[in-house]
Amino acid sequence: MAWSEFSKLPGALLPWYDANRRDLPWRKTKEPYPVWLSEIMLQQTRVEAVKGYFCRFLAEIPDIPTLAVCDDEILHKLWEGLGYYSRVRNLKKAAQVIMARHGGVFPREYSAVRALPGIGDYTAGAICSICYDFPTPAVDGNVLRVISRLTEDATPIDQPAFKNRVREKLVEIYPSRAGDFTQALMELGASLCGPNRKPDCESCPCRDFCGGCLHGTAESFPVRPEKKQRKTEDMTVFILSCDGSYALRKRQETGLLADLWEFPHVPGKLETGDALVALEAMGLKIKQIHRQVDKKHIFTHIQWNMRGYYLEVSELGGDFVWFTAEEIRENAALPTAFRQFWEEI
Ligand code: ADE
Repeated sequence: MAWSEFSKLPGALLPWYDANRRDLPWRKTKEPYPVWLSEIMLQQTRVEAVKGYFCRFLAEIPDIPTLAVCDDEILHKLWEGLGYYSRVRNLKKAAQVIMARHGGVFPREYSAVRALPGIGDYTAGAICSICYDFPTPAVDGNVLRVISRLTEDATPIDQPAFKNRVREKLVEIYPSRAGDFTQALMELGASLCGPNRKPDCESCPCRDFCGGCLHGTAESFPVRPEKKQRKTEDMTVFILSCDGSYALRKRQETGLLADLWEFPHVPGKLETGDALVALEAMGLKIKQIHRQVDKKHIFTHIQWNMRGYYLEVSELGGDFVWFTAEEIRENAALPTAFRQFWEEI
C-alpha cells in the first residue's frame, strides 16, 4: 500500500473492530480518569495482566482527588507486580497537578494532557482520541508494525522519523470515531498482526490493500534495530526469618525499583561460607540455613542473576524492618524480582 492510500484504513478497520473488539473493563467508559489509568498500566504491560490491577485500583482509588492524596505505600502495593513503578508515582504527581492547575478536572486540551507527568505522545494521543474523539493518533510498537507491513516501509522502527511520519499520515485520515479508530489499530497490532506470531493475513480487514499481504512480505516487517546486549548483575539475596517475621529493607528513593521494599542482598553470587561472613557483618546470628535457590529477573536494561539463601536467625537484628507474613502480603510492596523468592515460602 502506498502512503497515499492511507485513507482506506478507517473504512476497513472500524467495521472489523465493531465485530471483533475485546470486551475490556476500560472500554466501558470514556471518562478520562479510568481511561488514563488504563493507558498508564498498559504502557509496558499486557492486557490480560492489566485487567485485575485496573479493577482493584479503581475500586480503591475511585477519582483524581483521592489519588492526589493517596499514601505512596498504598499506591505501591496496588501496583505490586506490574513493574515500572515510576508510572504510579507519576500518576499521583499528575493528579496533584490536575488538582492544583485544573481545578481537579482532567484537562481537555491535548497540550495540557501531554504536559502531565508520565504522559508522552502515545498516552496523550490515546486519551484524547478515546475520551474526546480528537484526531490524535497513539503510535506504539504495535501500530508501527501494522503500518510498516501495510506500506512495506523498511525504515527501522526505532527511528523517530518513521514514527513522526506515521503520526502525520494518520492525523490526516482520522475519522470522527477517533477513539474507536485508535483502539482498532491497537487491536489489529495486538491480534492478527501481533508480535511473535505469523500474521493472519487471511482474516485481516486490510488484506485487499496491504502491501505485506499482497506481496507476501508481511513477515519481513517491521525492520528492527540491532538489539543491544543487556547488562547482567550477580547478587546474593537473604530471606531471613525469625519467629515468623521476615527481614525487609526499603530501597533508595531514586533509581530502579525506587522506594519499594526488598530482601537484604549483597553483590556477587556467594558460596555458603562467604554468604555467612556477609551475614555476620550485618550483625546477624545464623541459626539454620534452610536452602539455596538461584533465580533471575529481567528488566528492560539489566538482568539480575540472583542466589537466594533461606535462613533462620536467632534474634531480630541488623538494619532491617521485620514484617510478619501477613504484613508482607497486605502492606509491603515487594517487587517481582524479590517476590519470586517469597512465593516459595
Ligand atoms: N494497549 C494500549 N492501550 C490499549 C487499549 N486502550 N486497549 C487495548 N490495548 C491497549
